[in-house]
Amino acid sequence: MKHFLDINKTAPADLRAMIDAARAMKDQRGGRPKGTPDDDQPLAGRMVALIFEKPSTRTRVSFDVGVRQMGGQTMVLSGNELQLGHGETIADTARVLSRYVDLIMIRTFEEATLLEMAQYASVPVINGLTNRSHPCQIMTDIMTFEEHRGPIAGKKVTWCGDGNNVFASFAHAAGQFGFDLTFTGPETLDPEEVFLAEARAKGSTVEIQRNPQKAVEGADLVVTDTWVSMHDPQSARERRHNQLRPYQVNEALMTHAKPDALFMHCLPAHRDEEATSAVMDGPNSVVFDEAENRLHAQKAILRWCLGV
Ligand code: CP
Ligand code: NVA
Repeated sequence: MKHFLDINKTAPADLRAMIDAARAMKDQRGGRPKGTPDDDQPLAGRMVALIFEKPSTRTRVSFDVGVRQMGGQTMVLSGNELQLGHGETIADTARVLSRYVDLIMIRTFEEATLLEMAQYASVPVINGLTNRSHPCQIMTDIMTFEEHRGPIAGKKVTWCGDGNNVFASFAHAAGQFGFDLTFTGPETLDPEEVFLAEARAKGSTVEIQRNPQKAVEGADLVVTDTWVSMHDPQSARERRHNQLRPYQVNEALMTHAKPDALFMHCLPAHRDEEATSAVMDGPNSVVFDEAENRLHAQKAILRWCLGV
């Protein structure tokens, strides 16, 4: 069963093939209207369930449009409206859904929910974000970087802010795609050590640097994300903001990176908090290319999972 659960659980050759396929599919579509089908219809006759236990704009719409462009059908389900939200086990839900649909994409809270779904489903399961990782986003980010700057192997990526789920998938990707990664943020919001150790074991240079200016020196890509994630308690908001303010990505900070350093943010952004509008809308920002590329990258992930 080809589940897409995390970047570190997928072979580098498969990851590379997916990025290349995504690029080829994007090129092939050219600028044709979004609602028109692709020339190939590899998902014809296939039904995909998209389950959301948290809000989503990009993941929800890009998966839905992507499946339809490839000839498949979707059903978008919120965790609450399923029996899943009312006591039915994940394992039973996985077994039942597998009788109806050809693939399950789930956005959830606990990683254990995703893993149990994958264990008991007899169809592929895709991770659409958990508290711990966001692999579809970082596949997209690799695609977007390479579209603008060529191979990411050997480049330096600096992450500013919270050592969260999106950072974790960057760390997974550093090991698999062979780039270097620097984290800058307050010690209290450091990423889990296991993510860093694994990337280092695969040969990447992974550093923690408390000084944000030093951290972005020589960076080819500067990335940030919201200071308060969907799984973080609202009560932590003020404390997080106070701790993270020195790590805001603004024009002054970007002058310390390489002159052609790209800026990325998975969105949704809180403008003038984690990144200023001047950076978000500046010449080196590719945030809306990232958003578009969710569509193309996930189409490649869907095809890989289904072997079509
Ligand atoms: N970046 C991302 O996953 O966005 P959504 O939460 O809108 O899906
Ligand atoms: N870190 C953010 C990413 C949103 C796409 C969150 O988990 O809320």
